[in-house]
Amino acid sequence: MKTFVGYPVLLRQGRSLSNMISRILALSTAFLLIIGSTPVIWAGGGDDSVEVVRKTPRFLVKKGKTLFVHYCAHCHGLSGDGDGFNAEFLDKEPAELSDSKFQAKKTNHQIFRVINMGGAGVRKSHLMPVFGKTLSEAEIWALVAYIRDMGEDDSHPVFLPQGVNSDRPLDEPVSKGDIQRFKKWFKDEGEKDSAIQAGEKLFKKKKSCFACHRLEVEGEKVGGKIGPDLSQAGARYGPEWLYAWILNPHAYKPETKMPNMNVAPEEAQVLVAFLSGLDSENGGTPPDWQTFMETAGNPEKGKSLFFDPEGKVYCSKCHRVKDEGGTIGPSLSYVGTSRSRSFLLESILDPKAVITAGYSTVLILTNERIFLTGILKFEDDSGLDIVDKEGNDMYIRKEQIKKYKTQKISMMPGNFKDLLEVQEVADILAYLKSLKLPEFSGASGEEK
Ligand code: HEC
Ligand code: HEC
Ligand code: HEC
Repeated sequence: MKTFVGYPVLLRQGRSLSNMISRILALSTAFLLIIGSTPVIWAGGGDDSVEVVRKTPRFLVKKGKTLFVHYCAHCHGLSGDGDGFNAEFLDKEPAELSDSKFQAKKTNHQIFRVINMGGAGVRKSHLMPVFGKTLSEAEIWALVAYIRDMGEDDSHPVFLPQGVNSDRPLDEPVSKGDIQRFKKWFKDEGEKDSAIQAGEKLFKKKKSCFACHRLEVEGEKVGGKIGPDLSQAGARYGPEWLYAWILNPHAYKPETKMPNMNVAPEEAQVLVAFLSGLDSENGGTPPDWQTFMETAGNPEKGKSLFFDPEGKVYCSKCHRVKDEGGTIGPSLSYVGTSRSRSFLLESILDPKAVITAGYSTVLILTNERIFLTGILKFEDDSGLDIVDKEGNDMYIRKEQIKKYKTQKISMMPGNFKDLLEVQEVADILAYLKSLKLPEFSGASGEEK
């Protein structure tokens, strides 16, 4: 008679990563103790030979799946087959995690390590990003559990080590003092070739930036498409914002898919020097937009237009600033810090030019031959969540769908250029430019 018992191990708070191994040893001992002393064994029939089969707890697999869809599927594919939409832009194929050969070759600990430290940390490709600065240890174990589940591998059950740390690494925003120090450095050193070259090397060869972001290299676009194209980063973002974002994206946008890249302040500096130099000729503002750029605006008037439900544009139907406004479009709470004036102008006059990450639209043809369109909020192997331009949520199961594809259109109306006077656009721009992060205010330096 065989007995099957699963052992979900309770989650506990722990601290440092360095004593992980000793914790795992402790865990194995704990298991022996638990097994040895468990009084409840469901032996039916009078047989006393009892075999306990430890299985990965389902809660861990489920948690791993959610994380995998958010952080991994764009490269590794929703089923771990290595065929995510971004895979074709990488020089190195993302591992086929569901493959039985991969599963057989790796221990749970090896899988944990590569997710924790990134490819570069274990002598694999730098295109596999580091996640140990973004996810907690418990979350990384959940990913290991899900990877085993995708491979239908029962021979390597995964458990949370006892005392495992379930806190995400601290996400403190960069301090005002650090930003001031950076500004000084940037003024003195930011345009030197040595800094720019050091940044370029980090971007392309050492860190995983290139795996998710496109750049123009010798007239051609190369690199991944998970994050925005950075070919015109110098024209679109200010240097202080780049510095703060690269050091700690989650402090500014907790739900971002960009992992914390474990970049030291000196590395962030040179990365900014490199990115700030990228400002290709077709970037910047088209000549016929120059009048908009040159007109001084009134932020108060811009604010009324922004929030006026009876007005021509009613931006707040879709956008919120702090806690006020709708959620169809991205929050604009501190775009005055994160975006340059010309980039904001472009977002208003030609929204489809750059689609904000997480707001791409999808066109779906159902089996009943009905077309649906909306912002793609979530996709996994069973279906898609979309939101239409009135803010209605819909879930469509994959088996109801005949075809679907993402499109380069924005849910934001494209006709504001015709609806608004030059002065009104300038007023709205002035209002958006006034929306700053507190630690940047007064430190904003040169305005673009
Ligand atoms: C930007 C693309 C990208 C993303 C996002 C990504 N990976 Fe990878 N991953 C790769 C590439 C490329 C490799 C191949 C590295 C190599 O073989 O040198 C890889 C390899 C791996 C491996 C196998 C390493 C080995 O030992 O052979 C594991 C495990 C893995 N990734 C897990 C994950 C998990 C889990 C996530 C999400 C938390 C993730 N990856 C997100 C690109 C990515
Ligand atoms: C796994 C993919 C991934 C990797 C690796 C990655 N990024 Fe990103 N990045 C993103 C995504 C996604 C966004 C969009 C952020 C959002 O709005 O959620 C982003 C946004 C950005 C932005 C624009 C910020 C803004 O204000 O919108 C910059 C600049 C940037 N990344 C730089 C970098 C640099 C430098 C590196 C390497 C050190 C890097 N990224 C690595 C995915 C990635
Ligand atoms: C019907 C909804 C809707 C209305 C109305 C609307 N927007 Fe948008 N907006 C969006 C969506 C969706 C996006 C994200 C897709 C994109 O980038 O085009 C967006 C993007 C933006 C961005 C870029 C944000 C970023 O992170 O880069 C700015 C700036 C912006 N809108 C400003 C405005 C202003 C100003 C108005 C009013 C004049 C306005 N929007 C009206 C839906 C709307």
